[in-house]
Amino acid sequence: MANTILVGAQWGDEGKGKIIDVLTEGADIVVRTQGGNNAGHTVFIGQKKYVLHLVPSGILREGKLCVIGNGVVVDPVSLVDEINGLTKLGIKVDGNLLISETAHLVFPYHRELDEQREILKGKNKIGTTKRGIGPAYGDKAARTGLRMIDLINAPRFELLLKQKIKENNEILKALGAAPLSFKKVHAAYRAAGDRLRPFVANTVVKLHEAARRKANILFEGAQGTFLDIDHGTYPFVTSSNTTAGGACTGSGVPPNRMDRVVAVMKAYTTRVGEGPLPTENAEIADLLHAMGREFGATTGRARRCGWFDAVATRHAAMVNGIDELAVTNVDGLDSLERIKVCEGYRCGSTRLEFVPNDIEVFSKCVPIYREFPGWNTPTTHAREWRHLPVKARSYLKAIAELTGAKLAIASVGPSREQTIFV
Ligand code: GDP
Ligand code: IMO
Ligand code: MG
Repeated sequence: MANTILVGAQWGDEGKGKIIDVLTEGADIVVRTQGGNNAGHTVFIGQKKYVLHLVPSGILREGKLCVIGNGVVVDPVSLVDEINGLTKLGIKVDGNLLISETAHLVFPYHRELDEQREILKGKNKIGTTKRGIGPAYGDKAARTGLRMIDLINAPRFELLLKQKIKENNEILKALGAAPLSFKKVHAAYRAAGDRLRPFVANTVVKLHEAARRKANILFEGAQGTFLDIDHGTYPFVTSSNTTAGGACTGSGVPPNRMDRVVAVMKAYTTRVGEGPLPTENAEIADLLHAMGREFGATTGRARRCGWFDAVATRHAAMVNGIDELAVTNVDGLDSLERIKVCEGYRCGSTRLEFVPNDIEVFSKCVPIYREFPGWNTPTTHAREWRHLPVKARSYLKAIAELTGAKLAIASVGPSREQTIFV
């Protein structure tokens, strides 16, 4: 399979989990490289549903090594819960997972600060998942964070945590929030540290050893291009590099060892949380929500929905260097007579072909649409390209062409079998 970076080309929840599960068949190792338990990747195997937050989705296939890379922020208590949940469902995690010793930790004060900052922002809030992601990456950048390597060193961890709780309690008090008990946090994190100790490793060295043995590595992205801290719709973004470069910095595997970039995108657009979404549309949102679809895998929030935005995905092709596209949720459009695709933005009197950096300008962008006839036929039973209605094929070809990358996969349902290799 070669070394493959998988990214989301939109605002997250593109169906990365499903496509990762499909591509894992040809991989030896699956690596998460950024984000934290803000992610929610859904995978169906038969009738069984799995939602992964921190553990790479590759864990669902037997005998694949999964790695949580240095670029990830780990909430150890939540990770232990996730491992226990997977184990209960019959998934073998012990022996199949490694966690980078330099991955930073998320603490209860990060979650509390995340929440307090959102309250302070009022109507300008980001709509975060409240998992403490921003404050944890903030500590990393400020060089005041604690890492896995500290968590598994009991005396050092106690000392460092004491200082951190003291400092953060002052901040929490100033914000009018309740202070944290060192004793309670320490006990919970010590227990999680003991459980996670066997997984902790120098993952950079392990990955390079595997690469020398010609292992195929799949880099599992979380979130999506427009939630990237540098390339997204700042400040309505997450706090990591969700674009292809993040796979290198978040794993220690350099760019010249990467062979291809696969991007996942929905046949339409969704976004959860605040921030601009030019193609947002009530008709398509009502349609999808009425089908019980597009509710967040992490927070359960209803996702905002809109037409496919080719300006955005074209931009994503540029910053990620997308080689191949996997288009998911094609079946979500099965009942429509007409389907719109945004191919440009009108901003005042100018036409834009890219996503503007000024959030105020972007908020005022009006989509310029091209209309496609709907296929108005169920596609969920299609297993090959030729089984798809001609109009669906034309639509998929058009959105790939507008994006500027090769269509490789079309997905017509959540299960493994509902995957068409083009
Ligand atoms: P991720 O965060 O990118 O992994 O995506 P999520 O799992 O948060 O959201 C994608 C949702 O779409 C999940 O509920 C998947 O089961 C579902 N899904 C993925 N591909 C398809 C598809 O082709 N058709 C349908 N109906 N659902 C899909
Ligand atoms: P997956 O991997 C969709 C969004 C939040 C919010 C913004 C910042 O499942 O695609 P954060 O908690 O990260 O500080 O929130 O980013 N967000 C996601 N949206 N899918 C995700 O992950 C997301 N992770 C964060 O809703 O708008
Ligand atoms: Mg998700």
